[in-house]
Amino acid sequence: MIRLNPVDRISGRLQLPGDKSISHRAALIAALAAGGSEITNFSTARDCGSTVACLRELGVSIMQADETLIFAGGQKLVAPSRPLDCGNSGSTLRILTGVLAGHDLTAELIGDESLSSRPMRRIIEPLELMGAKIESTDGRAPLKVHGSSKLTPINYKLPVASAQVKSAILFAGLNANGRTTVIETSPSRDHTERLFNGFGVPVQTHDDLSVVIDGPAHLTGGRMAIPGDVSSAAYFVALAMLLPGSDVTIERVGLNPTRAAFLDVLRSWGAEISVTDVQSERNEPFGTIHVRGGINREAGEAERTLSGAQIPALIDELPLLAVVGSQIEGGIQIRDAAELRLKESDRLATTALNLRAMGAKVEESEDGLFVSGPVRLRGATVDSHSDHRIAMAFSVAALLAEGETGIAGSECVAISFPEFYTLLDSLAVR
Ligand code: S3P
Repeated sequence: MIRLNPVDRISGRLQLPGDKSISHRAALIAALAAGGSEITNFSTARDCGSTVACLRELGVSIMQADETLIFAGGQKLVAPSRPLDCGNSGSTLRILTGVLAGHDLTAELIGDESLSSRPMRRIIEPLELMGAKIESTDGRAPLKVHGSSKLTPINYKLPVASAQVKSAILFAGLNANGRTTVIETSPSRDHTERLFNGFGVPVQTHDDLSVVIDGPAHLTGGRMAIPGDVSSAAYFVALAMLLPGSDVTIERVGLNPTRAAFLDVLRSWGAEISVTDVQSERNEPFGTIHVRGGINREAGEAERTLSGAQIPALIDELPLLAVVGSQIEGGIQIRDAAELRLKESDRLATTALNLRAMGAKVEESEDGLFVSGPVRLRGATVDSHSDHRIAMAFSVAALLAEGETGIAGSECVAISFPEFYTLLDSLAVR
């Protein structure tokens, strides 16, 4: 359990470890590519370590020195001699299953207790339509994948907006004979599309919703410096906004619009955020984010409901945005976010429980939350529920609260951001 006390403000300049979502995909692409690859600023997240460990079990030789990974390229995946352990990582399990669906081998994928309780029919259904066979325990991991290098292309409408499911189908589509189309209900993060295009496989997106790949297709390797993780940046951006006098600059951070939507939301709620020096790496935009503390009250009348197509682009930041909502005039409402119940924890329930423990007023519905604000949070003992995003969102709450807050199971931050508490401490001004 970590114990946290309030701070006056945060201040400093930093760069962050590589983006978790981009790192998973870059490693999978480098493992499949014809030529060699060098990936720098690879994520330090334990989840990305799970992807690398699974690839090694599949016979991929990967040299690693700190955050640099080197892949020889041109290697053939081999059947693993033991189950592939995906740990806590939904992206590893779901996207790797899509990769394996397109290879002539059988592999078992396992995960921890949380991952083994999460829904997998969403990938099993489309990948079986393409010709793979996938055994599961009632639609959940462990999964046994019997792949085939001669998959059938599909035209598939996703029942839920999920980048993991879309990506599983696109990776399988590399080995399908013909045109695979994935149709989304609302756009989810598009890293797989950007990186496929960046590593030699054309993927087209029509009307933001229909994603097309022609197989069989071959990735080429290359170099990539992964941009800093914008979802990790979010905790510092929100905290700086809520502590007047703060001044934080985050360099080389990912700015993909399907991920960085929280910046616009916070701006519309009065945050003073600027973005400069925008560049791009393999089609992924990145740049410098600068936040000046305090809320600009003139933005006070902005829309405070997050719903519909906004939700997938904010999906990992919603617990944090609920914490921010408790601090702003009028509070906030989140709707159409039932998917949050299927994450590493039931994030609607765990967010509501912890906010209430700290003195906020929260109403929970099937698919959302109504958080009243502003309220002075009180220090309390809260539980991370072994969910990294809950631990970090409530660490932000703790630094704003009156008195000490204990966060049980805070070590789970290592799932996405092992450096979180060290960096937070280095920015804190008491
Ligand atoms: C991810 C997609 C999202 C997100 C997760 C990472 C990815 O999940 O919540 O943290 O890397 O594709 P869904 O695609 O299942 O919504």
